[in-house]
Amino acid sequence: MQAESLHSGRTAAQVAAAPIMALDRVSKQFGPLKALDGLSFDIRSGEILGIAGPNGAGKSTLLNVCTGVLKPTSGALSFEGQAVAGLAAHHYCGLGIARTFQIPQIFSSMSVEENVATGALFGPTERLASGAIKDRVDEALAITGLASQRRQPAGQADLLTRKRIMLAAALATEPKLVFLDEPLSGLNGEEVDIFVALFRRLHSARGLTLVVVEHKVRALADLSDRILILNAGTLLCLDRPEAMLRDARVIDIYLGARNFA
Ligand SMILES: Nc1ncnc2c1ncn2[C@@H]1O[C@H](COP(=O)(O)OP(=O)(O)O)[C@@H](O)[C@H]1O
Ligand SMILES: [Mg+2]
Repeated sequence: MQAESLHSGRTAAQVAAAPIMALDRVSKQFGPLKALDGLSFDIRSGEILGIAGPNGAGKSTLLNVCTGVLKPTSGALSFEGQAVAGLAAHHYCGLGIARTFQIPQIFSSMSVEENVATGALFGPTERLASGAIKDRVDEALAITGLASQRRQPAGQADLLTRKRIMLAAALATEPKLVFLDEPLSGLNGEEVDIFVALFRRLHSARGLTLVVVEHKVRALADLSDRILILNAGTLLCLDRPEAMLRDARVIDIYLGARNFA
């Protein structure tokens, strides 16, 4: 991919600017198992970073560590130059770090907009005025295409809508950096295209930095500025998508032909 064709419209030099998050020899151990083993890399401000790798590679653990759900066993983690490893999860949210989960986590008994409002209650500014909450919710509903369904019960929503709701709730925290754990899983081809277009919109309209864990490698390569391949808790490669897709080792051993369908 040439610098001028980056999806964000930014030049390569701009995307290569200061890291928004940096990991330095981060490890996470569950008993004897090293789920993350001395990982060091930067997430660049304004980029879409794709993360792929086989089941059990440590992708979800990495997202959990980067969003404060889990504390690293060792190593350093910084956000905008500030050390954050060890802070409680709500501090991460307050700094502008949000995430979505592999399985949509929503409140089934609430309406779509009430679900999104739960996100607006957590973000960087404490005790928002109700008008400010409504503004955040309205904006998150609009950008995720949920405005017309706002009063419907979330419990009856289909999978694509549940994913939109979870994303809108994350956006309502007014994040700078959003981690998405397998956001395309379970979606059909047409729905994948809809969601990928939505990520592009978020990225360009809001200047969000996105980290996307995904098994659907073609869609991930199409979306991402760089792709990180994780294997057994270590970094196998971190490169531009076209270089990663040419890497026979990555294709044959770590991704599997079925993911290229
Ligand atoms: N809370 C946990 N306790 C013990 N082992 C875990 C826990 N979470 C993940 N693991 C293990 O860590 C490894 C990485 O898991 P995970 O991060 O979920 O991988 P991925 O998301 O890449 O499929 C796996 O072997 C998994 O069984
Ligand atoms: Mg996972």
